[in-house]
Amino acid sequence: MNLTVNLTNASYDIIFERSGIGHIDAYWGKGEKTFILTDSGVPEIYSRKVASCCKDAYIHTIPQGEASKEIKYLLEIWQKMCEYSLTRTDRIIAVGGGVVGDIAGLAAATYMRGIKFYNIPTTVLSQVDSSVGGKTAIDFEGYKNIIGAFHQPSGVLIDADTIKTLPKRQISNGLAEAVKMAATHDEELFKRFENADYEDMAQIESLLRDAVNIKREVVQRDEKELGERKALNFGHTLAHALESTLAFDELYHGECVSLGMKVMCSGEVRTRLEKIFDKLSLPSEFPVSPDSLIDICRHDKKCSGDDITIVYVDKIGSFELRKITFSQFADYIKGVSEI
Ligand SMILES: NC(=O)c1ccc[n+]([C@@H]2O[C@H](COP(=O)([O-])OP(=O)(O)OC[C@H]3O[C@@H](n4cnc5c(N)ncnc54)[C@H](O)[C@@H]3O)[C@@H](O)[C@H]2O)c1
Ligand SMILES: [Zn+2]
Repeated sequence: MNLTVNLTNASYDIIFERSGIGHIDAYWGKGEKTFILTDSGVPEIYSRKVASCCKDAYIHTIPQGEASKEIKYLLEIWQKMCEYSLTRTDRIIAVGGGVVGDIAGLAAATYMRGIKFYNIPTTVLSQVDSSVGGKTAIDFEGYKNIIGAFHQPSGVLIDADTIKTLPKRQISNGLAEAVKMAATHDEELFKRFENADYEDMAQIESLLRDAVNIKREVVQRDEKELGERKALNFGHTLAHALESTLAFDELYHGECVSLGMKVMCSGEVRTRLEKIFDKLSLPSEFPVSPDSLIDICRHDKKCSGDDITIVYVDKIGSFELRKITFSQFADYIKGVSEI
């Protein structure tokens, strides 16, 4: 069953269909010109299948990895869009993970002041989180997602078959974000994560769909992240600090988020999170000591101000936004503060 994201100025469907990438024209038409963005790690067959459903398609491939979310690649994309004579009524389709979706979305938001953007997320993380909500971005000057825009997609297609080619570690990485949705919003879904068999793709698919539904509801209530949507940053303050310091791909985004969540919650919640993370083989230890982590945060633009707003989960299915000082934040990291 598909989901509709109802927003003030735009609504779009999230289509769930196995093998759906082979007939996207049934949903989105053949279009005139379609600029397809993918990366070198995404099996080529996916973008070729999408292209075969379009009247006239151009596939542009960027190198895989976070390093491609850079201005250099955005410039290259703009250049190719101009060369391909893409017009205001044409469209961009992203076929890939969060990296491809984020930069393609920003290209769509900026080219000719905004053209249609469709997203076909092919990683668990992008299916459950980044493809829904309209946040687009690139990294700049060492800061993640610091240049970006809100640009809602015109449609999202989640084809569960595409995740069959993902390594297990990438599946767990994405599921960490799905656990985050349940931890902050839905205890029943959280229990399903606790009891799930992660070898069973059908179970994973059903968990993903219900987690996406939470994201959809939150985005509908708070499109521009002025309030409730901040809850989806649970685990992210520390995750961003970690990501800014670790070597490329030492830990993936969802892995850092799983570590971050364990710090910003009560002991009872931590125990329950850890059981799920163990099943998913997510990292159990911080790769740096609490003192170095505090030091990293002190130098991180996003958490070095006087006050930091963190998301705290005291009880599964709920959250609090807490405004705390940096020294209180350091206490959380050292594990001394719980309330
Ligand atoms: N916009 C948002 O709201 C939002 C939310 C969360 C995360 N993000 C962003 O998402 C990015 C991370 O996304 P990600 O985890 O999807 O990483 P990613 O896009 O780098 O994909 C991970 C790897 O998997 C490969 N891949 C993609 N699909 C595949 C498939 N089906 N089979 C085999 N390999 C495949 C890619 O080539 C890449 O090497 C980060 O840049 C993060 O900032 C954005
Ligand atoms: Zn995230």
